[in-house]
Amino acid sequence: MRIGGFIAVLLSVLIMVDESEAQPKDTNYDEAKVPKYTLPDPLVIENGERVKDTETWRTKRRPEILRLFDEHMFGKSPGRPAAMSFETDSIDEKALDGKATRKQIVARFNAKEDGPQMDILIYLPNNAKQPVPLFVGLNFGGNHTIHTDPEIKVTQSWVRADSKAGTGNRATADSRGQSIGRWPVEKILSRGYGLATIYCGDIDPDFHDGFKNGVHPLFYKPGQTEPAANEWGTIGAWAWGLSRAMDYFETDPQINARQVAVMGHSRLGKTSLWAGAQDERFAIVISNNSGEGGAAITRRRFGETIRHLNRSFPHWFCGNFKKYDGREDELPVDAHLLIALSAPRPVYVASAAEDQWADPRGEFLAAYHASPVYELLGKPGLKSDEMPPLDQPVMTTVGYHIRSGKHDVTEYDWQQYMNFADKHFGR
Ligand code: GCU
Repeated sequence: MRIGGFIAVLLSVLIMVDESEAQPKDTNYDEAKVPKYTLPDPLVIENGERVKDTETWRTKRRPEILRLFDEHMFGKSPGRPAAMSFETDSIDEKALDGKATRKQIVARFNAKEDGPQMDILIYLPNNAKQPVPLFVGLNFGGNHTIHTDPEIKVTQSWVRADSKAGTGNRATADSRGQSIGRWPVEKILSRGYGLATIYCGDIDPDFHDGFKNGVHPLFYKPGQTEPAANEWGTIGAWAWGLSRAMDYFETDPQINARQVAVMGHSRLGKTSLWAGAQDERFAIVISNNSGEGGAAITRRRFGETIRHLNRSFPHWFCGNFKKYDGREDELPVDAHLLIALSAPRPVYVASAAEDQWADPRGEFLAAYHASPVYELLGKPGLKSDEMPPLDQPVMTTVGYHIRSGKHDVTEYDWQQYMNFADKHFGR
């Protein structure tokens, strides 16, 4: 190997270790060392008033919690740009050996052909009654990585140095199908669901670029060069992108836009929770191993902490979130409130037993502590604060499982999401 090549490999390994894997030596993995903590009560307004009915939840407490997440954690996002448009790049009604219709849609965020845009890849089952229910999720390495289908466009956007999706931070066809294990497309289609996916880096690249390369600059006021301390970071932008995909689904007569489940893994699971919290058009919200900053209770300080998130991924959350390094008890929100924002819509939280960094127990407890909001709104939540046994899902309006194995999305996870969707979509 030439010296230059060797240095490039070494650098990407270092970036990988620094960005995703580095778990500080003092990380707490001991349940006995979880400090005592008090969670903000989902059913008490900041002025002390108790929420006793749906109306007060909807008109006072829910908007208040949303504002707190905007202000302190994810940052405030803009709405739909007036000049946004959708263009059908290709449609093939005989994709995947005739099993599916594949559509590739370009969503342009401004009026310029070469302006910021995202590619939405959609597979719809043929032989299914239309309009079809759909799962939508962002992917990590480019749409072409989710399947070996040679017709999927190779992403043109920047890709993460550790994504193995190409060289020089540009994807190549070599990475086609690289994440196929996380996207059981044929299985999803055979159960009558469509699947849509978007490369997260089309919306905002996953590195700290001072918010120059993604959608943020589109919304800067004259003279503004980066988001204010309470304005959206990268996760806010990704969630916004999911809502823009939803804008498209509402225009497609083959898709049932009232039965769209938003699903995400890990950082993209933090994103699906935030997308579902803000945009009530998502009918089901699914968090796969989302951990700290997603479904896990921050105040437990088990596994990843706020300080680690802010140090390794300073672009994910808003500027104000940095105030809470080591001060988790002062954060006016926690993960159970993020989940409660989706109520009464069904939410599914999934953990993996070997993913202690994401704090499976904290993920379960957040779903449990969101449950009083579900009960208030007339839907069953989780009854017990005892975690279910390994590989034994519980499903009310709130779903949860802890699967054996590592931090990943597996076919087992997808099967539970489809069972959950069948239950709630009356299929
Ligand atoms: C890192 C990070 C997590 C994140 C994960 C991922 O491990 O610390 O917060 O969820 O990457 O997105 O894979």
